[in-house]
Amino acid sequence: MAAQGPILEVRRLSKNFGGVRAVHEVSFTLRRGEFLGVIGPNGSGKTTLVNLITGFVKPSSGSVFFKGAEITGKAPYKIAGLGLARTFQMVRLFYNLPAYKNVIIPLCSPRVKRLRGGKYGEKDDAAIDILDDMGFERDSFVPYKPAGSLPHGYLKRLDLARALALRPELLILDELFSGMSMSEVASTLPIIERLNQEGLTIVMIEHRLKELFRVVDRVLVLNFGMKIAEGTPSEVMESDAVKSAYLGIEVDVEAQAG
Ligand SMILES: Nc1ncnc2c1ncn2[C@@H]1O[C@H](COP(=O)(O)OP(=O)(O)O)[C@@H](O)[C@H]1O
Ligand SMILES: [Mg+2]
Repeated sequence: MAAQGPILEVRRLSKNFGGVRAVHEVSFTLRRGEFLGVIGPNGSGKTTLVNLITGFVKPSSGSVFFKGAEITGKAPYKIAGLGLARTFQMVRLFYNLPAYKNVIIPLCSPRVKRLRGGKYGEKDDAAIDILDDMGFERDSFVPYKPAGSLPHGYLKRLDLARALALRPELLILDELFSGMSMSEVASTLPIIERLNQEGLTIVMIEHRLKELFRVVDRVLVLNFGMKIAEGTPSEVMESDAVKSAYLGIEVDVEAQAG
């Protein structure tokens, strides 16, 4: 039954920080295999929404269901272990470790061991394979350098590799492209698209609307912590609430699309 239902269901989720309503009564559902974009001005509650879903912040009220089971307020590692992985707007990595060792940590998780039938296998090779897929050239020395010595764009892709190593069923990307060069975005976008085509459900928070709108099925728009629109990219951009939240920005989107 659970497999037929939505992979994620968020019900009237709210978070107040002191007097700030960071997220207010946000509800939405996600089908298996769907690609959802989340947009909204700075401070509109996008990262807090991700933190609430993934257990990093405890909600003031509301609930979250993943694969039919309630996960509200569970510890982040437990939620990740169920197959819900996320990347960070501000990456959190083990900077003193070689890049590939950051990927070995999730490869050692009980979830991956279970999915591999009790065997871990060659973890170094598996880590290098995942990094290679993310554009860390296998024959270069880059995967072996301390993570802290890598340029920002590499750190974002390393964080993505770390999330993918968990073999997630749902992947949430919080501004993966911020700090990436145009060419890094151009090479990373097809990877994300391919993951979705292979069946991974993805939620992507992204400021680069042109790139986002090319890949998502549906968009959810936040403003002041509230959901102000939901629909296809063209539906939401026609919404008056979205136009006023994005004062001026919708003109850019039209210009970019042309
Ligand atoms: N840990 C926190 N403590 C206090 N206020 C916070 C905290 N995290 C976020 N906020 C506030 O919540 C609001 C939403 O922030 P955030 O979720 O980061 O927005 P976005 O990701 O859309 O830019 C902002 O007003 C922000 O200052
Ligand atoms: Mg944010």
